Amino acid sequence: MSQLDGFDGLFRLDGKVALISLCSRGLGFHAATAFLRAGACRVILVSRNAEGPQGLNQAVQRLNGLQGTKEKAVAFAVDISSTKGVGGLVTRVRGIEKHIHILVASAAATWGGPFEDTPDAAVAEALDMNVRSVYNLIRVLPHLPMADPARIVIVGSVAGFMVPHVDENGTIIYAVSKAAVHHMARQLAVELGPRNIVTNAIAPGFFPSKLANGLIERLGGPEKLNALNPRLRLGEPLNIAGAMLYLCSRAASYMNGVVLPLDRGEHLTAGAKRKYR
Ligand SMILES: NC(=O)c1ccc[n+]([C@@H]2O[C@H](COP(=O)([O-])OP(=O)(O)OC[C@H]3O[C@@H](n4cnc5c(N)ncnc54)[C@H](OP(=O)(O)O)[C@@H]3O)[C@@H](O)[C@H]2O)c1
Repeated sequence: MSQLDGFDGLFRLDGKVALISLCSRGLGFHAATAFLRAGACRVILVSRNAEGPQGLNQAVQRLNGLQGTKEKAVAFAVDISSTKGVGGLVTRVRGIEKHIHILVASAAATWGGPFEDTPDAAVAEALDMNVRSVYNLIRVLPHLPMADPARIVIVGSVAGFMVPHVDENGTIIYAVSKAAVHHMARQLAVELGPRNIVTNAIAPGFFPSKLANGLIERLGGPEKLNALNPRLRLGEPLNIAGAMLYLCSRAASYMNGVVLPLDRGEHLTAGAKRKYR
């Protein structure tokens, strides 16, 4: 019988340094909380705003107030859509850490509305932010010495492999950008695998958040959407925490190039939300 050597701590992140983009609130914040609770020695938070009730400072304060996490969370206020901003981020990260073991690369510019009416500026912004800035962030950060086993997790969306909403609730260019980053994860898996860096993507369904709440309300609110989900619930913080922790722990060290849907199977119910007549 196998003894499963190394089983202890399979889901722990002791001694790991993680950098998470888009994390003063929402999904990134839940990931940061999970990483610290699993033993990460430092979590570097990146969002644009330091101040305010949803800014980085309050996030750092909350994270450093968890049991045993004193001073382990730090934050840099950076606009990741700016190459200059990302360049400055690398310098600042190098100033405090020699190694980054985990990079969560996320971006979210969205536009909702009919296909024909989408302004060109919204198309450009979604592709620029959701695809180009993720690419640039990953491209620059692996130049930091990444210790074994390094992880990149790209935050995509189930919108990247199904067509959940159309017409006035359409998010076509957001969905296209998310499909692009799913494929970026596959490309990077092969490109960076030999350098001891594994890349996967996570594709969440609806998790209530500032970004998602507007569309959740337009579609009838959480209760209506709960009823459409095969598990009768929208995503909750613990769900994103568990999936992120899995992908970044030793438990998933053999996974590379996988896009993990995290929506309780809702993407398998394509067509349920539109009447064609
Ligand atoms: N929630 C969902 O249902 C859902 C579903 C599928 C995928 N996702 C994906 O999950 C990720 C996080 O979304 P969320 O729902 O957690 O959104 P959220 O709660 O609105 O949080 C977005 C975070 O991103 C930061 N941010 C926005 N623009 C930025 C920029 N240019 N540079 C740096 N930071 C920036 C925000 O802070 P500042 O405003 O201070 O910068 C905030 O911390 C996105 O990639 C999104 O596409 C979400």
